Amino acid sequence: MPSHCNSTSVANIPGATRARDFGRHEAHQAPAIGVSQNFIEHPLEEAITTCHQPVRDTPCRVPTPQEPRMKIGIIGAGSIGATLARKWVKLGHEVSLANSRGPDTLRELAAEIGATPVTAVQAARSGEIVVVTIPQRAVADLPKDLFIGLPTDVVVIDTGNYYPTRDGVISAIEEGLPDSSWVSEHLGRPVIKAFNNIGVQSLAEKSTPKGTPGRVALSVAGASPDAKAKAMRLIDELGFDPVDAGGIEDSWRQQPGTPAYCRDLDVPHLKDALAAADRSRIPEYRKAADDAAKPFFEAQNRR
Ligand SMILES: NC(=O)c1ccc[n+]([C@@H]2O[C@H](COP(=O)([O-])OP(=O)(O)OC[C@H]3O[C@@H](n4cnc5c(N)ncnc54)[C@H](OP(=O)(O)O)[C@@H]3O)[C@@H](O)[C@H]2O)c1
Repeated sequence: MPSHCNSTSVANIPGATRARDFGRHEAHQAPAIGVSQNFIEHPLEEAITTCHQPVRDTPCRVPTPQEPRMKIGIIGAGSIGATLARKWVKLGHEVSLANSRGPDTLRELAAEIGATPVTAVQAARSGEIVVVTIPQRAVADLPKDLFIGLPTDVVVIDTGNYYPTRDGVISAIEEGLPDSSWVSEHLGRPVIKAFNNIGVQSLAEKSTPKGTPGRVALSVAGASPDAKAKAMRLIDELGFDPVDAGGIEDSWRQQPGTPAYCRDLDVPHLKDALAAADRSRIPEYRKAADDAAKPFFEAQNRR
C-alpha cells in the first residue's frame, strides 16, 4: 500500500553556472573511462544544482505488519537528516532527531515531521540505527563519548562528504584516508557509508516501488554484513535499490566527484560507475566536486 509523503523545501543553490560547466566537462570525459550512457545523461551538475531545490516527496512503501518498526536516531536535521526523518516516520519507524543547537530549536520541525527532538547523545542512544548526517568538519565536534558503551549491533550510518571549501582541509583525507574511514576513526566506531551520493531532491522525490525499471540505486559500503543488510533494507523501503559497494576502505568509489556520485543511476549503471572510479584520480574528483559546490557553500557562509 503506497503512502504519499508531504512536500517540504530546502535552501536553493546559487552558483548553478559553475556546476553546469563541471557537469559538461564530466560528461565529455565519461567515455574515456568507460562509464555508461546513463552516467553521461546524469552529470554532476544535476546533482549539485538540483539537490538544493524545493523538493516534493514521492510515494514510498509502508512496512507490512510483520516488519518490525525500527528506532532510528538522526544526528543532523538539515537537508538530508530532515528528509530521511520525514520518510522514515511515514514508513512507520520511530525517529529521534538532533541538531547542534539543542532540541528546543527543533520542536517545530520535529512536530511537523512526527519525530522526537533530542540531543545528539540521546539520538545516538535512541535505537538500532544511528545516522550521522552533518558537515564532515562537525564530526570532530561531536561528544567524544557519543558511542561509548553502546551495543555493537547498533548500526551507525554516515551520509557525509568531505568538501574542503566547507570543511577546511583535513590532512588525513587529503593523504588518502576515505572520508568515512576518517569519520569512523573520530566516532571510535565502524560506520556504514550510505546516502552520501544522492542529492536531497532525488532522495525526496525519486522513490519508486521495487521492480520499477530504472529504479535509482544507492551504494552501501561498510565492514559488517549484518549492519550493511539493515542499511540495505532501509534503502529498499525508502524506494531505492541497494548496491553492496564493499568495505569502508572501498568507499572512496562513491565520494564526491566520482562517477557514482549523485547521478541517480540504476543498479547496472551504478555498478559500472563504482567500477570505473580510479583511485589515482581521487584528488581530481574531489577538486571538481568542490569547485562545483563552492558557490553554494560560500553563499551558505554569508547567511
Ligand atoms: N544536501 C545534500 O544533497 C547531500 C546529499 C548527500 C550527502 N550530503 C552530506 O550529508 C551531510 C549533511 O548534509 P546536509 O545537506 O543535510 O547538511 P545541512 O543541511 O547543512 O544540515 C547540517 C545539520 O547538521 C547539524 N549539525 C552540525 N554540527 C552538528 C553537531 N556538532 N552536532 C549535531 N548536529 C550538528 C546542523 O545543526 P544546526 O542547524 O543546529 O547547526 C544541521 O541540522 C554532509 O556531510 C553533506 O555533505 C548532503
